[in-house]
Amino acid sequence: MAGETSPPPPARDSKSPSSSPKPKSPAAEKSPSPANAGSPQPTTIAGILPAQHWVDAAEGQGFDDADDASAVVSSTASLSASILEYRKIHGRTYHHDNDTAKYWGSNDSQQNESMDINHHVETLLSDGKLFLAPLDTDKVHKVLDIGTGTGSWAIDFADDHPNAEVVGTDMSPIQPTWIPPNLKFEIEDCTLEWTFAKNSVDYIHMRLLIGSIADWDFVFKQAYETLAPGGWFESQENNAVWESDDDTLSENSALGQWGKLFANFGNTIGRSFSICDDGLQRKAMEAAGFVDIHEVEYKDTKLKEIGEYTQVALEADIEGYILYPATSLGWSREEVAIFAAHIRREIRSPDIHSYYRQKVVYGRKPS
Ligand SMILES: C[S@@+](CC[C@H](N)C(=O)[O-])C[C@H]1O[C@@H](n2cnc3c(N)ncnc32)[C@H](O)[C@@H]1O
Repeated sequence: MAGETSPPPPARDSKSPSSSPKPKSPAAEKSPSPANAGSPQPTTIAGILPAQHWVDAAEGQGFDDADDASAVVSSTASLSASILEYRKIHGRTYHHDNDTAKYWGSNDSQQNESMDINHHVETLLSDGKLFLAPLDTDKVHKVLDIGTGTGSWAIDFADDHPNAEVVGTDMSPIQPTWIPPNLKFEIEDCTLEWTFAKNSVDYIHMRLLIGSIADWDFVFKQAYETLAPGGWFESQENNAVWESDDDTLSENSALGQWGKLFANFGNTIGRSFSICDDGLQRKAMEAAGFVDIHEVEYKDTKLKEIGEYTQVALEADIEGYILYPATSLGWSREEVAIFAAHIRREIRSPDIHSYYRQKVVYGRKPS
């Protein structure tokens, strides 16, 4: 169990009476965003509330943060055209799509800041440990961090283990340049055949590739082949669905809808956002041939502190997480900003006790 927060006054049920029918917001009438322009509209999964619901609910709840919408719209207006062929969705940058790699999160500095804060959340969850596999670190000389993002994990691992050579890989060149001397970053799409020598690596770490991988069996097989006999592979993933054990989170709240939006998007792009529920990590490890497989689902007594950091990480860039999935449904940027304002309210509310699941699975390549 990860990242407990104290989220929201449930958003009004879409069927609840409103004083008078509201005119559609101009935003709701906008044409499809660049994200979906020209592509067929995906089939939506049951239970997703329309964008207009959040506009109406914001008015009903007296939001004064229309500034939420305008701030986001104006803050990125000056972004220059990317020399790295990034895609743009409403001014936010994304890695360009190709046939294999499709990443749903923004790769700009605002999202990267959220990623960095989230690294702290993950470290708190594991009691400060960077790995759970039973590594004999004296014998760990070569390490990979797949989908390293801003490289926070790889930097910490390299700092702690100066005798290990650490390589972090990602599709996006968003890693810092001031890094430990025993670390390097490489651009590599992990859904293609890996370029590392077979049987050459002692430990492979892969965290939060949620929604990024269509064929988990293939990727875990690459890890298996790259590991030296006896080497460990560790995968940490979460569900996109927020839950509560005490029914304080309703299906029609913004947090309740968050999981549905991602599930819908996952169906559209053929990638799961419910890795833990689907048991994908264990299945793919078994299929690859790993042994001594262990699973750890986080349930922690320090949830309050973790929840506070989760809130900070999410609030650092709610839009960067949800923009692509929501615009693929035809939501305008203003509608996304209003939905984000609902999320913000909910994760700040002490009345909602929500969390999302997170699972670490590690296994060994037989000696
Ligand atoms: C949610 S971030 C997690 C980053 C890091 N692992 C962490 O836990 O802080 C996911 C990262 O995976 C990268 N990614 C997504 N698809 C990928 C692929 N096919 N190959 C390599 N990296 C990928 C994204 O660019 C992004 O940096």
